[in-house]
Amino acid sequence: MKNSIKIVSSLVMLVLIVSCQDKDYRNYEYMPNMYEEISYEAYGKYDVFPNQMEAMHPVEGSVSRGWMPYEYPNSTEGYQEAKANLTNPVPYTEDNLNEGKGLYTIYCAICHGDKGDGKGTLAEREKILGIPAYNDQGRAITAGSVYHVMYYGLNTMGSYATQTTERELWLINHYVMDLKDALDGKPKRAFEDETTTQEEALVEQEEMTDEGQVMSEEAQTEE
Ligand code: HEC
Repeated sequence: MKNSIKIVSSLVMLVLIVSCQDKDYRNYEYMPNMYEEISYEAYGKYDVFPNQMEAMHPVEGSVSRGWMPYEYPNSTEGYQEAKANLTNPVPYTEDNLNEGKGLYTIYCAICHGDKGDGKGTLAEREKILGIPAYNDQGRAITAGSVYHVMYYGLNTMGSYATQTTERELWLINHYVMDLKDALDGKPKRAFEDETTTQEEALVEQEEMTDEGQVMSEEAQTEE
């Protein structure tokens, strides 16, 4: 009998102890080392960093995934040099042109129009002014100048470097030069068929980017 009283009372004690737990507060931690991380939190304030800021800018000269350094500076001289010297490393094939057309329709047609005549929806609604046609005589665009402008942007036209990969910009570029030819009434260029080593390098860069994204997505789902 005495024994069963002991058992019952210790059970009651146990229930009382467990039920006293307040869910809003952390319970006793016996070995907190595993819960309390010692790494720095993103955007945290710590003395070891300059300005106490954990989130720092990338080191100068860092190169984004999917990109190679772009050697022409964002200046009038840089624009002129790119216009004269920079050429499209991606071969002009039917597939590439179609891919470029799709991307053009997503990113550019809203201002520049499906035909590249500068009469996109935003121009018609007068939301953005001064959009040129691609065959504008005074501008005389080239593959190099088109790339330069997409990379850095130009006045009211923003940069596309953060939304696309390097190869995608070159795909769009083919389509823009096609639209220019069509506006000028020139015949279509003949397609190339072989893949150049330069293009292979760009595809590889792009794949690296894709892998990076897949990896970070996996990491997120694991959390
Ligand atoms: C928000 C509207 C808008 C969008 C979207 C836009 N542009 Fe433009 N674009 C402009 C304007 C405005 C100018 C004229 C800029 C100036 O000269 O001040 C321009 C100029 C240009 C020029 C002529 C630059 C030169 O050398 O003088 C090219 C080429 C061009 N855009 C290509 C593109 C391509 C390719 C895309 C898509 C990736 C694109 N634009 C998306 C508004 C836009």
